[in-house]
Amino acid sequence: MRQTISCNNNWFYTPAYKEGEEESLLLDGFDKVNLPHTNIELPYNYFDETDFQFVSCYKYPFYVPEEKKGDNCILRFEGVMSYAKVYVNQQFVGEHKGGYTPFQFDITQYLFLHKENLVTVVVDSTERKDTPPFGHLIDYLTYGGIYRGVSMTYYSQLYIDNIFFQPKKVLETDKAMRIQASLINHKENNKYHAYCRLEDKKGHVIYEDQREVNLHNGELIYDVEGIKGIDLWHVDSPILYRAYLEISDEESKDVIERSIGFRSAEFKVDGFYLNNEKVQLRGLNRHQAYPYVGYAMPKRVQEKDADILKDELHLNIVRTSHYPQSTYFLDRCDEIGLLVFEEIPGWQHIGDEAWRDIACSNVEEMIRRDWNHPSIILWGVRINESQDDDAFYSRSNAIARELDPTRQTGGVRCFEKSRMLEDVFTMNDFIHSGGEEVLRDQKQVTGLEQNVPYMVTEYNGHMFPTKIFDQEERQIEHTLRHLRVQDAAYGDPTISGAIGWCAFDYNTHDGFGSGDRICYHGVMDMFRHRKFAFYAYASQESPEIEPIMMPLTIWSRGERDQGGSIPLYILTNCDYIDIQCGEGLLKRVYANKDKFPHLPYPPIVIDDTVFTQEEIGEWGHVWQDLALSGYYKDELVISKKMSKNPIPTSLEVIADHTQLIATEKDATRISIRLLDQCGNVLPFVDDIISLCIEGVGRIQGPDKIVTRGGTAAFWVETLNQTGVMTIMLESMLLGKKEISITVV
Ligand code: GAL
Repeated sequence: MRQTISCNNNWFYTPAYKEGEEESLLLDGFDKVNLPHTNIELPYNYFDETDFQFVSCYKYPFYVPEEKKGDNCILRFEGVMSYAKVYVNQQFVGEHKGGYTPFQFDITQYLFLHKENLVTVVVDSTERKDTPPFGHLIDYLTYGGIYRGVSMTYYSQLYIDNIFFQPKKVLETDKAMRIQASLINHKENNKYHAYCRLEDKKGHVIYEDQREVNLHNGELIYDVEGIKGIDLWHVDSPILYRAYLEISDEESKDVIERSIGFRSAEFKVDGFYLNNEKVQLRGLNRHQAYPYVGYAMPKRVQEKDADILKDELHLNIVRTSHYPQSTYFLDRCDEIGLLVFEEIPGWQHIGDEAWRDIACSNVEEMIRRDWNHPSIILWGVRINESQDDDAFYSRSNAIARELDPTRQTGGVRCFEKSRMLEDVFTMNDFIHSGGEEVLRDQKQVTGLEQNVPYMVTEYNGHMFPTKIFDQEERQIEHTLRHLRVQDAAYGDPTISGAIGWCAFDYNTHDGFGSGDRICYHGVMDMFRHRKFAFYAYASQESPEIEPIMMPLTIWSRGERDQGGSIPLYILTNCDYIDIQCGEGLLKRVYANKDKFPHLPYPPIVIDDTVFTQEEIGEWGHVWQDLALSGYYKDELVISKKMSKNPIPTSLEVIADHTQLIATEKDATRISIRLLDQCGNVLPFVDDIISLCIEGVGRIQGPDKIVTRGGTAAFWVETLNQTGVMTIMLESMLLGKKEISITVV
């Protein structure tokens, strides 16, 4: 039976690849590294994007385990940016173009059984014009290196290479499933015994079946019926099952297992339906980029992003702009009930025939990697915002439909009357620039006479870049734009939902962003700290899940142009709020549907019909504290005080996780906020924080950091040793703090 061995530890790396390095068994000048790995650690901003565009070399020495001698071996890479040439024991094994999809080679014939083996990977991280997304400008950075995991799988003669557990009759009481497997079979035999099993999360067997099967060209199709007692997967109850398939004869056996969910997902003319129930899609785009290490973040950090999107931002969909993202991220989306629109790599530019062939392979690689994820509801089979190309996109659509008949296709465009070859018209609608127009009518966009399944896949972004330390009024307008577009999407039954640009700020090329290699388009910054616009999304969730009450103000006399604090927007899902300025009258304020009639939870707007500026205190008059109390079902569920005179009071230091693992590279974020006496962030505080670490960890990035918008953060990573890492922080303003993380 198969055995998969992780190969993420103990690689040797040099950024200075020399011609012929693959011929050498020497490791002189190589550093020991673990995966995921970035070919260079970058500054947060103001760096040259060619800094990571070079050819590097990785080597991995290993022995074939005694009991595996004579077995076959598959070497698999989850993602190498962007062109990899792989050698085993100085022999060329194969290559892969494209940094976002997995690839593997059977390396059996190259192995030494009685001495050490060496895998050498030459990694070209330049923006090669022959590979998507490259060939023209793109608004993001792709970084470099072996930035995802590597594994080796030993098997004897039979290997289930891929499996698609395809749920069927999902909405009937008795469910069915098609098991579609591709096998590597080194035997003459094509007749096998197949056994399949479904287990619930407690490990109880829900369904079993076995039968004799025949392989046809290494493919197996195995249909099972009458599956009882299945609960459907839903965003509110993401129920997963463990599915097993075992194939065997008297001498050989292989088993594969996957996590699956039973659900139906369909974009229709009047919206998106999950298990036949209409769900309005509310989402943001995610780039998989982090400060300093770019894409090279391990499992826990990938999962954390999904958690932020679902549990903090309360979204129900994410678009993996503009490429297939980590399977850890997608696994987490399955577990927590976050829908996913996944797409192939690309940005506006379409290359030559060979380039298109790679893009079509990307469609196949993406789908074959990810087809078991119940969270994925749509395949993006166009190059983001590219021109129409009927031949190319007929092909990409056909590939997707043939591989996966259970999901619809989409393909993101940004201009009107683009030819619709997909099942869902997915449109980046940037019409809103603060004025009356918020979203275009779908018929205007499609140019079609009838309505079609339709979703908005981007808005805002470059139309109104906003930094976490921008002036209050800009941050308010940023937030209102997000609210307006969501409101319009909620109000138009022909729009399945809207996915905004974007969740997190990201590094980009010099042709985009703020000149410092950052696009400040996120509702959170690159460190995953919140801007005001974060609350445009968070506040749309039911208070049963999380009461939210965020006044869009830093509560100051003179931050806004011309002074004043009215109108005061409070983003909340509370039924009402009691608000008081100083010792003044307590006022009860309710949400007003006038301005945002369609949002589940429109903001409360406090204008001078509620409080006059005089009551609050005018320019040149007394300024006072603010107190807010939020009620749900007549119970106080959230309260907040804002001081008229905020002073730096406490240094909040929180680790996302206090226990990490030592077996593989693991990491977590340490988040810092400088708070005033009421626990509010001090947005304009300039602090320098010195970091130092002792024990079994390493700090990613510099050891002196500055606060931006009153916040800062960094990630620490493990070093394959158990024990404790203690991080000492020294703030220029607020003294020292220490935090410890255990590594087990
Ligand atoms: C879109 C593009 C995104 C990003 C965004 C900025 O055109 O698809 O990748 O560049 O603009 O608003």
